[in-house]
Amino acid sequence: MDVGPMTHDFRDKVAFVAGASGGINFAVARHLARLGARVGLLSRSAERIETAAQSLRAEGLDALGLAADVRNYDQIAHAVDAAKTAFGAIDIVVSGAAGNFLSPAADLSSNGFRTVVDIDLVGTFNVYRAALGSLRTPGASLIAITAPQGARPFVQQVHACAAKAGVNMLTRVLALEWAARGIRVNAVSPGPIDGTEGVKRLWPDERSAKRLRDEVPLGRLGSVDDIAEAVAYLASPAAQYVTGTIIDVDGGYLWGTTASSMRGAA
Ligand code: HXC
Ligand code: NAP
Repeated sequence: MDVGPMTHDFRDKVAFVAGASGGINFAVARHLARLGARVGLLSRSAERIETAAQSLRAEGLDALGLAADVRNYDQIAHAVDAAKTAFGAIDIVVSGAAGNFLSPAADLSSNGFRTVVDIDLVGTFNVYRAALGSLRTPGASLIAITAPQGARPFVQQVHACAAKAGVNMLTRVLALEWAARGIRVNAVSPGPIDGTEGVKRLWPDERSAKRLRDEVPLGRLGSVDDIAEAVAYLASPAAQYVTGTIIDVDGGYLWGTTASSMRGAA
């Protein structure tokens, strides 16, 4: 029976979404805004983030574009201040800025490795640390967008696997440290999501894309809305007893083998 998506009411809430100029995180920001939140959207590119924010304002939603690099703490602190000045104390922080590409470790430079760790892992620390003093507590919810790469090794992605494994552990440690402040810290781990930059980069040709679909036990790639729904749940009072958790929203991709071997076993 289709009961439709779960709905939440964020009409008195403020959200701050890092890495929101496109793809999954833009869909997350849009979903929170459509559920009533006033949303600050952040990415490196002033032009891309302004276009994203403007497209939400064109729907009549409250959205502010903020240009900053998550690798630069001062820029992030400045962006947090701007969001707080515009909308008030922050209830929901989503950290989703990331970089990835395929490279055998033997061909990867030290700077290539560091760049991805800096964006995904140091960037998430920077976003949370800079937001800490501007959160509305108790009740604030911090949500990282991690990846299966954080829990399972993938060849040619030592940089992203190390970075996302770090994001997962950062999630668990901050959940413990900040629980007494009334702050919940969780993560969503998307499987391969249709039409995104991540899938284009990691499964670039038709053959690898087809193999990927066969590897998802539920038999399809995810949609950006699948991830937005999970983030909204974690941000909502429905998840008030949930902290330190990583929710896999991946059609079974992380722990599944292949859809065909699953069918064979059934
Ligand atoms: C090897 C590479 C490389 C590549 C960059 N580098 N691309 N090395 N193979 N394809 C190296 C460079 O040579 C350089 O090292 C260093 O990385 C930094 O490169 P820059 O171009 O200066 O970095 P920067 O401009 O900061 O850009 C960051 C980036 C870029 C990560 C390299 O690709 C980017 O901006 N990506 C953001 C978008 C993105 O990646 N989205 C997908 C997320 S998918 P040297 O030594 O030469 O100086 C994801 C998981 C999906 O996260 C999971 C699916 C299940
Ligand atoms: P995407 O469209 O490339 O999104 C990445 C976002 O991060 C962009 O808005 C980019 O905007 C921003 N960004 C990159 N570097 C930044 C920096 N240094 N500072 C600030 N912003 C920065 O990728 P996506 O595929 O939708 O992935 C989004 C998130 O989901 C990532 O965390 C990724 O690891 C995760 N994920 C994706 C998949 C998938 O199937 N796509 C699967 C699992 C997990 P600018 O270029 O404008 O800065």
